[in-house]
Amino acid sequence: MRVSIEVNGATVAEEVPDRTLLVHYLRDNAGLTGTNIGCDTTSCGACTVLLDGESVKSCTVLAAQADGHEVTTVEGLATDEGLHPVQRAFRAQHGLQCGFCTPGMMLATVSLLQENPKPSRGEVRAALEGNLCRCTGYHNIVNAVIDASGQEVAQ
Ligand code: FES
Ligand code: FES
Repeated sequence: MRVSIEVNGATVAEEVPDRTLLVHYLRDNAGLTGTNIGCDTTSCGACTVLLDGESVKSCTVLAAQADGHEVTTVEGLATDEGLHPVQRAFRAQHGLQCGFCTPGMMLATVSLLQENPKPSRGEVRAALEGNLCRCTGYHNIVNAVIDASGQEVAQ
C-alpha cells in the first residue's frame, strides 16, 4: 500500500507492505535512523516518536496507521537556531552514556513537558517508566528533564 506521512515537516510517501511497522518505515523508507529498535516488543521505548504530538512506541504502530498524520523523530527536534531545549538539558546534565535510549527518552520528555510543564521528580520517573536505560541509572536523566522544565536541579 502507499503510505504518506509528514515526517519532521517533510512528506515521505512510499509503497510498502501492509504490515510495515512505523519504526521500519522511519528507518528504512525515510532514512531516519535516530529512532532506535531495542526490543521490537513494546518493552524498551528506544523507538519512541511523536505521532500528532503524542508519544508512541513506533514498533507498536503500523506505518499504515500513521498514513496522513504527522510524526516527529529525534532528527526533527533541533532547528537552524540550535538544539531543542530538551536536547540541551540532556547534554548539560549528562543524561546519557551510550546514547541508545536517548532519542526515545527525549521524545518522551517532550511529550511529558507538553502535558505537565513542571513535573516533580516522581512524575518524571513515572512518565519515563516505559523507556529503559541500561547505562545511566536514570538519575541524570531525571535531572535533565527537570532542567528542561526550567526547574532547579537539586544536586
Ligand atoms: Fe519499540 Fe523497544 S523497540 S519499545
Ligand atoms: Fe545507554 Fe541509556 S544511555 S541505554
